[in-house]
Amino acid sequence: MKSYALHLILILVIFLSNCSYLPAGKKKTNDSMNQFLLLAGLNQSPGFNWNLPAGFPIPSVPPENPISEAKVTLGRFLFYDKNLSNNQTQSCSSCHLQSIAFSDGRSVGLGSTGEFHPRNPQALSNVAYMSVLTWANSNMKTLELQSRAPLFGISPIELGLTNDSYLDRFRNNSNYTKLFYDAFGGGLESINEQNIRFALASFQRTLISGNSAYDKYTYQNNKTAMSASAIRGMNIFNGETAECFHCHGGFNFADSTTHSFQSTNEIIYNDNGFKSLTEYNTLNDNQKGFYELSKNSSDIGKFRAPSLRNVAYTYPYMHDGSINCTNPPEAGIYSETCAREALEKVVDHYSSGGKTPSNKDSTLIKGFSLTTQEKTDLVNFLLSLSDESFITNKNFSNPNP
Ligand code: HEC
Ligand code: HEC
Repeated sequence: MKSYALHLILILVIFLSNCSYLPAGKKKTNDSMNQFLLLAGLNQSPGFNWNLPAGFPIPSVPPENPISEAKVTLGRFLFYDKNLSNNQTQSCSSCHLQSIAFSDGRSVGLGSTGEFHPRNPQALSNVAYMSVLTWANSNMKTLELQSRAPLFGISPIELGLTNDSYLDRFRNNSNYTKLFYDAFGGGLESINEQNIRFALASFQRTLISGNSAYDKYTYQNNKTAMSASAIRGMNIFNGETAECFHCHGGFNFADSTTHSFQSTNEIIYNDNGFKSLTEYNTLNDNQKGFYELSKNSSDIGKFRAPSLRNVAYTYPYMHDGSINCTNPPEAGIYSETCAREALEKVVDHYSSGGKTPSNKDSTLIKGFSLTTQEKTDLVNFLLSLSDESFITNKNFSNPNP
C-alpha cells in the first residue's frame, strides 16, 4: 500500500516536472496538461473560467487569494480609479495604458506628484505568468505584493497614498460597497487595503494575450497567419546565431515564468550588455539592476528579461526606456513605423555584441551579422507577437469611461 502511494507520487512528480518547460508550439501537451490538472484536482482556481487561448497553461494563483469573477470586476474598477492616488490625479492606468498593452510610452514613469521613476513602466500582458515582477526586485513574487509599491512607495512617489483615509472614498460609494461585498462579503471593514490589492491582482491575472499572428500560426493551425518573412524571423529568433530564445523563450517569450504545471519557478536576471560597467558605475544604485538588492558587483546590469509579447506596442525599450524611434508619437498612440525603427535599434544592439566590460554572458550575447533582409525578418517576427484583440478587449478597458 505504502509503495503504491509512493509510486503514484513519483509519477505525479515526473509528470509535473516534464511540464515545467513549454516550448512554443506544444499545443497538445499544454491542453492535455490542463485536462490533467482538472482531473487531479490541482487547478488552483476551480470554478473560474479562464477562457485561455489555445496552448496556454493555467496561471498560478496564491492560495490566499483564489480568483473569482467578482474580484476581477472590482479589480477592474480599482485599476482605473484615481481615488487610489493621494491627490486623486492618477490611477494604475495612468502609467499602464491598454492601447499600448498596458505600458506607458514614456521612457520612465511619472508619478502623481511629478516625481520621475528610475525605470520604464512595464507592459502587463500575461503578467500572470511572471515568476517575479518588476525589472530587478527579486522580492516581488506576487501581484498581491507588487501593488504596494505604486500605491504606497515613497522612493519614488507613484500614487502617493500615505494613510487609510482614502478608504472612505470607497466606503462612501454605493457602487463600491456592492462590488466589495460581492467579491469579499462582510461589511464596510471589507473595504480595506489588502482586499484592494487582492482585487487588483485578480484583474491583472486576466490580462492574457494569446491571439497574435504568431499564436494563430502556432496554436490555432492557421498557416497563413504569419508572413514568410516573419516565419524566417522566428527561425532566426530560435536559432543559435541570434540566441534570443535562451532568455525570451517558451510560450510567453520570457525566462522568469510560473504557471500551474511548473514544479519550480524560474527567476533569472541577465545582463544583455546594454550598458558597460563603466557606464553603470556613473549611475545611482536604483539604475544598476539586481545589484541594488544583492550588492554583489557581479549583478550590476542584470535585469529580468521582459516578455516579448506585444513588444511592438511597448516602445521605448529597456529598463530605462532609452531605445526609441526618432520621432515617437504622443504616448498611448501606436505607430508601426516607430516600433519598426526602435526594434531595429534593439536588433543592432544585439548584433553588435553589446558593451564591454559588462557582466553579460558572452556565449549568448556574442554579436552576429544579419543581412538587411534577415534583420527585417527578425523585426517582422517581433511584430507578429502583437495581439490587437488584447489592446481592444472591452473586458480590460475603463469600466467608467
Ligand atoms: C507612476 C507610474 C506608475 C503607476 C501609477 C503604476 N505603475 Fe506599475 N509600473 C511602473 C513602473 C515604472 C514599473 C517598473 C517598476 C520597477 O522596475 O521597479 C511598473 C511595474 C509594474 C508591474 C510589474 C510588471 C512586470 O512585468 O513585472 C506591475 C504588475 C504593475 N506595475 C502594476 C501596477 C498597478 C496594479 C498599479 C496601480 C496600483 C500601478 N502599476 C501603477 C509605473 C507605474
Ligand atoms: C542573455 C539573455 C538575453 C538574450 C540572449 C537576449 N535578450 Fe533581449 N533582453 C534581455 C534582458 C535582460 C533585457 C532587459 C535589459 C534591460 O532593460 O537593460 C532584454 C530586453 C529586450 C528587449 C526590450 C523589451 C522591452 O520591453 O523593453 C527586446 C525587444 C529584446 N530584448 C529582444 C531580444 C532579441 C530580438 C534577442 C535576440 C537577438 C534578445 N533579446 C536576446 C535578455 C536577453
